Amino acid sequence: MRRLANVIVIGLLAMIVLATAGSRASAHANLASSDPASGASLPKAPSEIRLTFTESPDPALSTILLLGSGGTKLSVGPPTLQPPRTLMVSLPARMPDGVYTVSWQVVSRQDGHETAGVFAFGVGPVQGAISPGAAPAASTSGPTPLAVSAKTALYAGSMLLLGAAVVGLGLFGGAPRSLRIVGLAAALVAFAGAVGLLVAEQQTVGVALNDLVQTATGRPYLWLIVATLAAAVCAVLAAARERWRAALWGSGAAAVVAMAIRVSSGHAAAAPDPLLQQAYQWLHLVAAGLWIGGLVLLLVLLRERLGTGRPPLQEARRFSDLAVWSVGVVAVTGLLRAISELGGMSNLLDGLRASYGLTLIAKVAAGLVLIGLGATNRLRNVAILAHDERPLRRFIGAETILALGVLVLTGVLSGLNPPVAAAAAAATGPAPVAGSATGADFATTTRVSLSMTPGFAGPNAFRAEVTSYDTGSPVSADAVTLRFRSVTRPDLPVSQIRLTQPMDHQDMGSQAPGAEGMKGAWVGQGTAVSVMGTWRVTALIRSGASTVEVPMNLVTNSEGSTSTVAFPDAPVTATTSFPDGVSLQSFVDPATAGPNPIHATAFAPDGAELPLSGVVIVVTPEGGEPLRPQIQRFSAGHVAANATLDPGAYVVDIVATARDGRSYESSWALTIAPAPAG
Ligand code: HEM
Repeated sequence: MRRLANVIVIGLLAMIVLATAGSRASAHANLASSDPASGASLPKAPSEIRLTFTESPDPALSTILLLGSGGTKLSVGPPTLQPPRTLMVSLPARMPDGVYTVSWQVVSRQDGHETAGVFAFGVGPVQGAISPGAAPAASTSGPTPLAVSAKTALYAGSMLLLGAAVVGLGLFGGAPRSLRIVGLAAALVAFAGAVGLLVAEQQTVGVALNDLVQTATGRPYLWLIVATLAAAVCAVLAAARERWRAALWGSGAAAVVAMAIRVSSGHAAAAPDPLLQQAYQWLHLVAAGLWIGGLVLLLVLLRERLGTGRPPLQEARRFSDLAVWSVGVVAVTGLLRAISELGGMSNLLDGLRASYGLTLIAKVAAGLVLIGLGATNRLRNVAILAHDERPLRRFIGAETILALGVLVLTGVLSGLNPPVAAAAAAATGPAPVAGSATGADFATTTRVSLSMTPGFAGPNAFRAEVTSYDTGSPVSADAVTLRFRSVTRPDLPVSQIRLTQPMDHQDMGSQAPGAEGMKGAWVGQGTAVSVMGTWRVTALIRSGASTVEVPMNLVTNSEGSTSTVAFPDAPVTATTSFPDGVSLQSFVDPATAGPNPIHATAFAPDGAELPLSGVVIVVTPEGGEPLRPQIQRFSAGHVAANATLDPGAYVVDIVATARDGRSYESSWALTIAPAPAG
């Protein structure tokens, strides 16, 4: 026995060394590189786009869109996979000079998670400097309530099935009497979890169930349903038949297979050492199943023996021995998995600050309390069982509830983007946007002034000044991130740019003259503002554990020059003239509180109406949320949108795209007067 113990301890130590020495794991298909690169300026249009991810994307569930600078979609071929991790689309033969946005959305074949992002590149002479390698951070799908509940059910059901077989049959010799009922209930819960997980994935990915299960991503979900169904069939047989033991062992075996299938579509499968990580993860699940599943069976047995004067002494001791080993394996394999997902020892502290790390800390804390309760059972409650069974029963009851909490946290954890994946994506370059905007947080503690240079769609440099709302003095912060959402094109994914403090400030230190004034300055660059129009930009300012959100509205610069005229009793009219001779005329009537149609008409250089393929009008009240009213078409080049406006200052921003794909932007300030009396 001692020799066996030594072998196991040495084995576990070797596993830790292997894991810490191992390379960084990955998870979620994040963009590793692209051709053309983000922010690239090309002399002529490329014939294809190639995106290489950190995990293999599923081409059947992935989309790549190419947008012109006005946001018009250009037709590209379907994405094809170039193994192992590159998606390719071919581009139209004729692409005019300008800025193009690539908007991608992919589903990882390994863990089924969805990731989306945008980046831009330029063709021909493009306005403004191009900053190489600056790509906005991608957004990823998070855990949904359905996915978390389904995982919790799957974990709980399969763990209990394993416990019923190994502990109920093997260790307790067929006790408790209700073992077959417990097995049946557990199998049904696991099956419901597997079905729920497939539906949750279908909702995330947004394709028909039938299409999903035919993809490499969807297939494991189907296999999970098959395995849990097999467990359920065995459990039904066990509940109904004379020779039920074999059937119950069968459902325990099916549960172990279901655990392996689940592990094959989780984060462990996406690690660079997938076999080793999947083995750890599977051991983790099996050991947790023996421990927690067995615990529930002991609780049922204790309840059954209540008042019989025959407390299950032998059973409790045998289970206690098994539990010691199971807890050891859960802790060691959990630690190994955590190190891998956090990005190795070197990234441990940073990794723990992300939502994945924080959820993991909560899970470990709950896990430690579980272990504490288990230790008290072993050292005290089992010893006094012959005299008093209440402490053991109460402790196991508490442990069961806490374990359920751990499973819910695990359901959340396995749906979050692990720090290692986020770090891999960040390594490709954080990025940002020109124009200017100011805003304050809801509680009016902090003010941000943001500038974007040169201010056109495409690569831009950003500078944010963070100041106190009351005193105007600079505010220091630990991190400032800008989050961008296009109001003009709401279908584009949200992107982020992490800002840094200007180098000269860091170099000079706080002793340097003027350093105080630079404390609140943050800079960055990138292609987050990838299409022209209005953008909702939120600055996230983190200081210590608290984050302040400052929303702002940013409008891209127009290539045209605008003049507005406002005569009494005539609508306010703006005319923007563009270098190629096109002009865009717009007016708002009556410009007093209430319904205000906003008309826009485009004219070709010869003065004839210019046929438009699309127009978006955005009206933004000062300091408020932008509105994007519905467009009505009057003629090929004339549209209108109806907005109900209160008195105050607004910015009208119109992006019109001609049939040849060229886009024109006109933005101007509008004042709405109070409604006339009477
Ligand atoms: C003692 C500390 C523990 C640590 C450090 C730990 C760590 C981890 C980690 C890092 C994962 C991988 C999650 C992912 O896919 O991103 C995981 C998965 C999991 N853990 Fe733990 N864990 C611990 C305790 C427990 C306990 C006590 C239970 C059971 C009550 C448990 C049950 C699970 C389950 C069911 C999975 C999910 C496997 C999957 O979906 O593939 N863990 N754990």
